[in-house]
Amino acid sequence: MTQLYQDNLAQLYDAAVPDWPGEIDFYRNLAQEDVDEHHSILEIASGTGRVAIKLAQAGFQVVGIDLSQDMLSIARAKSASLKNVTFVQADMRSFDLNRDFALALVPAYSFQLLLTEKAQKTCLEKISKHLIPRARLVLHLERQDPDWLASLPSDSYTPFEASGETTHPHTSQLIRVSYAWSFDQALQSVAVIIRYETIDPSGRVSERVDREPLRMHCTSARRLESLLVRAGFEIEERRSDFASDSAPDASDEMIWIARKRP
Ligand SMILES: C[S@@+](CC[C@H](N)C(=O)[O-])C[C@H]1O[C@@H](n2cnc3c(N)ncnc32)[C@H](O)[C@@H]1O
Repeated sequence: MTQLYQDNLAQLYDAAVPDWPGEIDFYRNLAQEDVDEHHSILEIASGTGRVAIKLAQAGFQVVGIDLSQDMLSIARAKSASLKNVTFVQADMRSFDLNRDFALALVPAYSFQLLLTEKAQKTCLEKISKHLIPRARLVLHLERQDPDWLASLPSDSYTPFEASGETTHPHTSQLIRVSYAWSFDQALQSVAVIIRYETIDPSGRVSERVDREPLRMHCTSARRLESLLVRAGFEIEERRSDFASDSAPDASDEMIWIARKRP
């Protein structure tokens, strides 16, 4: 068996997913406004700790929850020297940590892994139960273009398209990451197959592995706003990036900042 197949895909995720421009500063600034020494930040679907660990390094108390033991193991190993970050295995639809937080974050489109509006509402209500009154929630989603979605096949996938390159965490070999897409109109969800390829020094692909399709719910701004309000939040702001003040529809990103209603 070769290296990519032996890999835990969580390790490739950890190596391949960069921060969004301005993302960490944005979360840190919100934490500075809202989180005192008596309260903590809750990150939902915290993965390998990409965001949670940086906020802990900035001095905040952080709790991350995630379903995947593989992702949690990496997050715990990366943060072993930090006392102010904890990672808990829990489902974002049904968690109960028995404590309140002053800020909740759902970065990196994780909310869209909940494939029905019912599951999304249940998750928002769970988050709300874990927040002090007026605490903020940030949801970072992808705003899919309806024309692009309509152009995707429903019973097959688009050809793979390269999206970026990274370095393998153990072998230091070049890894190319590509995506192939499909869209299910009835479920309003896209499915993406992520392909990792090892590129040898002559530029040839020496190894390839495709992940199981990952499904993501395509949520429009209008539906998401209504969902947040029904789950007990009021909308403070909707942004299209972390770093500037562009108009809300200026990019494929949807960053919602909401407050728990008292
Ligand atoms: C795109 S990753 C995001 C990781 C991290 N927040 C980041 O920003 O890099 C999505 C994460 O959601 C987790 N996840 C998927 N379904 C979940 C669920 N129902 N409850 C908790 N975590 C879940 C996955 O295990 C994965 O770690």
